[in-house]
Amino acid sequence: MTEGTHPLLGRLLRKLGASQAEVPSLEAWQGLLKLVGRTYQEADQDRYTLERSIEISSREMQGLYEALKRQSETELAAERQRVMQSLAILRATLEATVDGILVVDEKRRVVAANKRIGELLRIPEEVMETRDHHTIVEHASVRYPDPKAMIAESERLHASREILHDETTLKDGRTIDRYSAPVALLDGNIVGRVTFLRDISAERNAHAQLEHARIAAEAASQAKSNFLATMSHELRTPLNAVIGLSDLLLLQGGDPLSGKQREYLEGIVTSGRHLLSMVNDVLDLAKIEAGKQQLEIEPVGTQDAIEEAVHALRPIAASRGVALEAQVAPETPQVKADPIRLRQILYNLISNAVKFTNAAGFVRVSAAVDGRGVAIRVSDTGIGIAPDDVKRLFRAFEQVNLPSGDRPGGTGLGLALTKQLVDMHGGSIDVTSQLGHGTTFTVHLPVA
Ligand SMILES: Nc1ncnc2c1ncn2[C@@H]1O[C@H](COP(=O)(O)OP(=O)(O)OP(=O)(O)O)[C@@H](O)[C@H]1O
Ligand SMILES: [Mg+2]
Repeated sequence: MTEGTHPLLGRLLRKLGASQAEVPSLEAWQGLLKLVGRTYQEADQDRYTLERSIEISSREMQGLYEALKRQSETELAAERQRVMQSLAILRATLEATVDGILVVDEKRRVVAANKRIGELLRIPEEVMETRDHHTIVEHASVRYPDPKAMIAESERLHASREILHDETTLKDGRTIDRYSAPVALLDGNIVGRVTFLRDISAERNAHAQLEHARIAAEAASQAKSNFLATMSHELRTPLNAVIGLSDLLLLQGGDPLSGKQREYLEGIVTSGRHLLSMVNDVLDLAKIEAGKQQLEIEPVGTQDAIEEAVHALRPIAASRGVALEAQVAPETPQVKADPIRLRQILYNLISNAVKFTNAAGFVRVSAAVDGRGVAIRVSDTGIGIAPDDVKRLFRAFEQVNLPSGDRPGGTGLGLALTKQLVDMHGGSIDVTSQLGHGTTFTVHLPVA
């Protein structure tokens, strides 16, 4: 056996009894060949097994790789789908708003804009498509009264963190409302600016028209008040003469007046008085509305004022079969009022109560102090007022619906005048009523 024999071969040779010194026998050679052959066979076997397992595992690896690839692809596609959907919604929202919207980044590139903004500022689509803010602003500026100032302001705004909300009138007369604010990311980094523009011309026009109408109505109302004031004055003078002269005739009448003549004359006096009281109401209202009515405020005894009014109206109440009483404690404080106007307020309320109460009913006038001053209450057990009519009560010339055939005289001015007078005193008037059961008017006046 020579040097360099592979140790495995050496071992085989030793197994066969061949020593390194002698040449192996033929038998030994044959045995060796057989052994070597088997070894090759075994090696073949091992290699085959190894190759098979490598093949199997590499196929599995491939499968795994494919599966992973497929999974990440579907996930990626789903994610992509979601992002696309959000973007589509955002886009549709941008288009659906009434505002023109423009979002510009720090490099003055337009990152989002809707059609409305182009329409509002009459910017051609191809200009919008440049997505260059400077170009767009330049086109828009021609719509503004001072294009240079508009461009300069846009530059200034984009360099600032200012939030701005203002209104501009364009050359063509449209009014544009603008809201402009920096766009900040969650980390506070400013990445651009968003501007919302809205055409508010319709609102502004409506407002202007309303204001115009209000001024016109006020002027008309003032003219009406002035006219009424003059008219009433003109009416009052001859009326006073008619009444005064008729009174005189009645007083001095005697012989020349027949029964009929006296009756006619009495008719003239009654109608004249009624006419005069109406003219007085109109005059008073007109004076108040024209701002020409002045009050002479002084402390007035509440009890005295009420008792005087009740006393004066008791004959009328009695003639209608209505009981009328005052219930005021003597210690009731005085009120701050113009005595003549307070009497007018009380007469109006009490005469209404009597007028709208049927026979056997009663009217009570009372007074008490509460948190809002002295409360003077006029309560009756009369016909009452429907809830719907209550809100019309204090308007001039409004007479709420009365049962047909039962329409006591009057112009519907009493309550309007009463309310104006109470307001002028810094007081208030309220009413509670139940249809068919009665009404209570409460006047609050300041304590003297
Ligand atoms: N106490 C009351 N009970 C029921 N209805 C009332 C009462 N007071 C007022 N009204 C209703 O409110 C309307 C308006 O009252 P207002 O005093 O302003 O007018 P008027 O009494 O009809 O006329 P004028 O007072 O000018 O002579 C009355 O016509 C009546 O329908
Ligand atoms: Mg009245």
